[in-house]
Amino acid sequence: MAFKIGLLGYGTVGTGTAEIILAPEGRNSLLQEIEIAKVGVRSLAQPRSPQLPTGILTTDLVTIVNDPEIEIVVELLGGLEPARSLILQAIANGKHIVTANKAVIARHGEEIFTAANQAGVYVFFEAAVGGGIPVIKPLKQSLGVNRIETVIGIINGTTNYILTQMTEEGADFEEVLAEAQQLGYAEADPTADVDGYDAADKIAILAAIAFNGRIKRDQISCEGIRQINATDISYADDLGFVIKLLAIAKANVDNDSLQVRVHPTLVPKDHPLANVNGVYNAILVEGDPLGQVMLFGPGAGKGATASAVVSDIVNIIGFLQTSNTKGKLDPMLKCSHDHFKQLTPIAEINTRFYARFLCRDVPGVIGHLGTSFGNHDVSLESVVQIGFCDDLAEIVVVTHDVQEGNFRQALEEIKSLASIDSIPSILRVL
Ligand code: HSE
Repeated sequence: MAFKIGLLGYGTVGTGTAEIILAPEGRNSLLQEIEIAKVGVRSLAQPRSPQLPTGILTTDLVTIVNDPEIEIVVELLGGLEPARSLILQAIANGKHIVTANKAVIARHGEEIFTAANQAGVYVFFEAAVGGGIPVIKPLKQSLGVNRIETVIGIINGTTNYILTQMTEEGADFEEVLAEAQQLGYAEADPTADVDGYDAADKIAILAAIAFNGRIKRDQISCEGIRQINATDISYADDLGFVIKLLAIAKANVDNDSLQVRVHPTLVPKDHPLANVNGVYNAILVEGDPLGQVMLFGPGAGKGATASAVVSDIVNIIGFLQTSNTKGKLDPMLKCSHDHFKQLTPIAEINTRFYARFLCRDVPGVIGHLGTSFGNHDVSLESVVQIGFCDDLAEIVVVTHDVQEGNFRQALEEIKSLASIDSIPSILRVL
């Protein structure tokens, strides 16, 4: 007996999903059990490949989530609405969900998983983070017995491509963004990627699983890459770093709270994440007793994302074939927490900083900087006068681990010094 699925959306990932299901040879034998019963699309006029039997396509998406014969609804619409409402309606009708939608899971996870646990259905979302990289199930299952300490990801391919090109070409952000848009690597509206929101959605999802608690998405501190320029990439290179957009979730040692943040970061060149380039993604997980594991691969794209979607579908079918206790969910696969983790405000986080100052070339300027940092408990690792920019001396400072609030107070004091012209760049250092 075939298991009927309904697809909501038949764009890039939807067609990639159908391509795998319709060509099962040499793949998992459970693929032969899948029947694509309905596919919801915006318009019937558009030509589609692979072609589906007549009558399967519909513009009425609600009929799919209400169809009593469909057991699994595969949501590939993206965005918050109507995805959220359709998922909730499908769950209320007792259907399992597979989704690639990081925004809806990160922002509406609480109501979706609460409803799914009550209805006794699975919500699987392997494709929502890292495209084709298996990371959700490994975190839940294979790594689940570890006490996770940190999850650090390069989980946005667009920004990683832009930063890689800027590093290789010595070009500035706007120039590389325009090039990436022409090549189709960046969206016409690149906001979600370049301002870090996409990575913030994804780290909210990873943190919830790794640290076993819900994450309030709007409490995640999020900075994008618009302010990164060729000058800082070049100075970072001289100092032994590359600049990457990192999404970081870290357990605080002294209590149950977490820090979760997204920002461009100077990464030492010998760090495992430093060599993750182009559109590739990687997630570095550190836990006890495991140590470090890095998951690396294609973070987006038709085939890669569809691979994760179809694997989720097959996993649910395996469960449907073997479970005789309807409504009872495997504790390793369902959402097993319902409390929110406390997130540390960014001002209280300890990290290293890189700051670039433009200073009037007068005696004692480095001393003034050092005194102001010292006044606020900010310990410096290195101070380098890089050169001159017009008539101004360019000085780069790298700190030891310091409290962000103290560092910001020191900067306020420094801004008021007569010898300081401006502070063009402030970046965090891993
Ligand atoms: N826009 C995402 C990225 C791909 O650039 O990584 C889908 O998650």
